[in-house]
Amino acid sequence: MTDSVTLDSPLTLPCGAVIPNRLAKAAMTEGLADSELHATERHQRLYGRWSDGGAGLLITGNVMIDRTVLERPGNVAIDPAPSDGEPVGMAALRAWAREGTRNGNHLWMQISHAGRQSPRYVTTKPVGPSEVQLELMGNYARPRALSDAEIRDFIERFANVARIARDAGFTGVQVHGAHGYLLSSFLSPVTNQRTDQWGGSLANRARFLLETVRAVRERVGSDFPVAVKLNSDDFRKGGFSHEECLKVVKWLNDEGIDLLEISGGTYEQPRLLGHSGDEGTAHEPEQRASTRAREAYFLEYAQAIREVCQCPLMVTGGFRSRSLMEETLANGELDMIGLGRPLCTDPDTPKELIEGRIDQAVSHEQRLRLADRGWLSPASPLMPLKMINVLGGQAWHYQQIFHLADGEPVDLNLSVLGAFGRYFGYELSTAFRLKRTK
Ligand SMILES: Cc1cc2nc3c(=O)[nH]c(=O)nc-3n(C[C@H](O)[C@H](O)[C@H](O)COP(=O)(O)O)c2cc1C
Repeated sequence: MTDSVTLDSPLTLPCGAVIPNRLAKAAMTEGLADSELHATERHQRLYGRWSDGGAGLLITGNVMIDRTVLERPGNVAIDPAPSDGEPVGMAALRAWAREGTRNGNHLWMQISHAGRQSPRYVTTKPVGPSEVQLELMGNYARPRALSDAEIRDFIERFANVARIARDAGFTGVQVHGAHGYLLSSFLSPVTNQRTDQWGGSLANRARFLLETVRAVRERVGSDFPVAVKLNSDDFRKGGFSHEECLKVVKWLNDEGIDLLEISGGTYEQPRLLGHSGDEGTAHEPEQRASTRAREAYFLEYAQAIREVCQCPLMVTGGFRSRSLMEETLANGELDMIGLGRPLCTDPDTPKELIEGRIDQAVSHEQRLRLADRGWLSPASPLMPLKMINVLGGQAWHYQQIFHLADGEPVDLNLSVLGAFGRYFGYELSTAFRLKRTK
């Protein structure tokens, strides 16, 4: 059926839009907003650069529907538009969309709410399905359980932001239903302990996500791409499981989405980045440890998802070799390949892969793992600090994104600890500026 699909094959989505090739830049939070949480020239420069890199689809990092509960202090947030006009910050969104689509590629806005995964330096009053606190380095406050009216207001906000994205010139939206943020935390029985219509059975836990997708679709119309990012598994004992994911995918079929992106894990179990997390609460589903699965670590989950999913499927996480990307497209396992970290250091990766100039997307995550250097080995008493591995690697990639956004060369010699220091300095000063402008 799809045996002739190659990296440069266009993909026609159910809504009729066409993505010019099969490589996508996955969502990566930018942290580049100004103190009003509006997009800036740095977004324009960054996404213009990524557009030049040849991916058929660029997905923005988290764009927040609630300015009080951010995933990071530098997130772009979009407030409800007045009924008679546009929200403040619309001109900046337009400029961002224009630069990000300058080569005829798609640019989709990832719409998100951080839920309980909003750090203390952003808010001491996060919200979630229930009062289940994220225990990670003391950095997250106990969330307050949302009321029914607040959930309905957030569904309206998701739809509103999707409509604004469309009006601003973004060519699609992605609803972030993965990684433990608000919609994802509703899916998990660990974080969602509600007894009303938003908790309990899977149908109830999935209601927030499904109603959000429905509201977004209604607001943007049938000809505009609407995608969902979903965990294949939370990898958390008692959490949202692979079996539950398969059921949610079946329900999403009825909502008429255009692309499903598969990822996995949460802050506690950062499998999205190929890292394991807290061992005490981890859940390890049976997997064959094939070479393919070691590289693209959600690929085997995607095979089961493919069987139930009726829309195009994208998998993100670990894809590096051109041969594996070509193989999974050619044999019809997937429709799109998502790439994250390699594009932080070489934004031309998609073009180079498509033109056959490289066989491997270059990544630096292995050398960024402090644990691999001994002093933070699994046997070390400092192992609870293993989140430093994850954060250090993230911080390093954030710094490279800043360089691209400033039109500077990336800094491959940056040390992990150096990146860590700069990251926290930036986050804290940005959070401080934000509080002052409130
Ligand atoms: C610096 C950085 C920022 C990220 N920010 C987001 C985000 O805002 N939204 C999201 O869904 N995933 C985010 N992710 C996860 C990526 O979309 C992707 O799932 C992950 O990096 C695995 O793909 P890769 O192995 O190609 O890097 C981020 C990853 C990195 C490295």
